[in-house]
Amino acid sequence: HPKKLLRAIIEDGDHLAKLASQHIYSSDQFDRPTLLQLFRLAAKYEANPDRFSSSLNGQILISAFYEPSTRTRLSFESAWHRLGGDIMSITDRSTTGIAKGESLMDVAEMFNNYGDCVVLRDSQESSVREMMEALRIPIINAGNGTDEHPTQALADLYTIFKWRPDLLTDTPGAPLNLCLVGFPAKMRTVRSLLKLLCYFPEVFSTVTVVNDKSCSDMFAPGQLEQLEQFGLTVNTSDDLEQVLPDADVVYINAISWEGDSFKQYGKKYHLDASSPLKEDAIILHPLARGEELSTDLDGTHHNWYFSQARGAVFLRMALLTCLVKRAERVLDVI
Ligand code: CP
Repeated sequence: HPKKLLRAIIEDGDHLAKLASQHIYSSDQFDRPTLLQLFRLAAKYEANPDRFSSSLNGQILISAFYEPSTRTRLSFESAWHRLGGDIMSITDRSTTGIAKGESLMDVAEMFNNYGDCVVLRDSQESSVREMMEALRIPIINAGNGTDEHPTQALADLYTIFKWRPDLLTDTPGAPLNLCLVGFPAKMRTVRSLLKLLCYFPEVFSTVTVVNDKSCSDMFAPGQLEQLEQFGLTVNTSDDLEQVLPDADVVYINAISWEGDSFKQYGKKYHLDASSPLKEDAIILHPLARGEELSTDLDGTHHNWYFSQARGAVFLRMALLTCLVKRAERVLDVI
């Protein structure tokens, strides 16, 4: 699948060069040509998974995760290791000067001296932007409260195109119906993904958001308008069983980080092997899962959520090399 995606995306100029030394805080920052070349580079890495590189030799990642994480932290760290770099990891802010009242700006100033790139997960939405003000090395938002998780969304879209590389060719198959189970206003993975879909309106014929509508502000201000402005048709439903038979991609998420704890929305909607899924539908889930996604789907061909988590390593390798080294040098070494 990565090789098919590699063939589907034509090499097209030096779009990745503009990522050098950039902070990555939102899906809004990307454009279509940059995304395509990033996916192409990720597919190159994934097509050669055993080939490690030394392109980040001598470079230090500061991995700061002030909220629990399995996939994001470890896949970023795996990506950095595979590129030959070294890592300093902080998994508890109370072990830093923040516990003594040190400002994020001062911490960021120190990070400038100690590392070459920062990956930050923080339940406070504003932290990443506060640190950006003082950082002279790139920072990547690895989840900031309910706001965004842009690299998760990159991994999500990369997975969809690995599954259906034809959608990026001159002879695409039918566009996709995407069923999205969750609350776009509250879930950072969903918020970031919806922004990325806007770059590919011809690929997604409809987006149907399924939830019990208990939340009065289902969409964040401007969110629905942005989707419609880019030509996406967005429907809402509270009936998952009715939506599933027409869905090509089912994206399900049940956790929202609010303040310093998470809210679980997983009670009402549930996918299992008896769900009325289309024969060739795929399921995506950013994980960690709760009761909304049964393990009896793990052994089925609908399970693309493990591929989504695995592909995130290669996607993050691609992004990191572009941020920390110029893209030409990256392309030289693989
Ligand atoms: N997808 C995701 O953000 O997972 P983690 O919380 O385990 O990092």
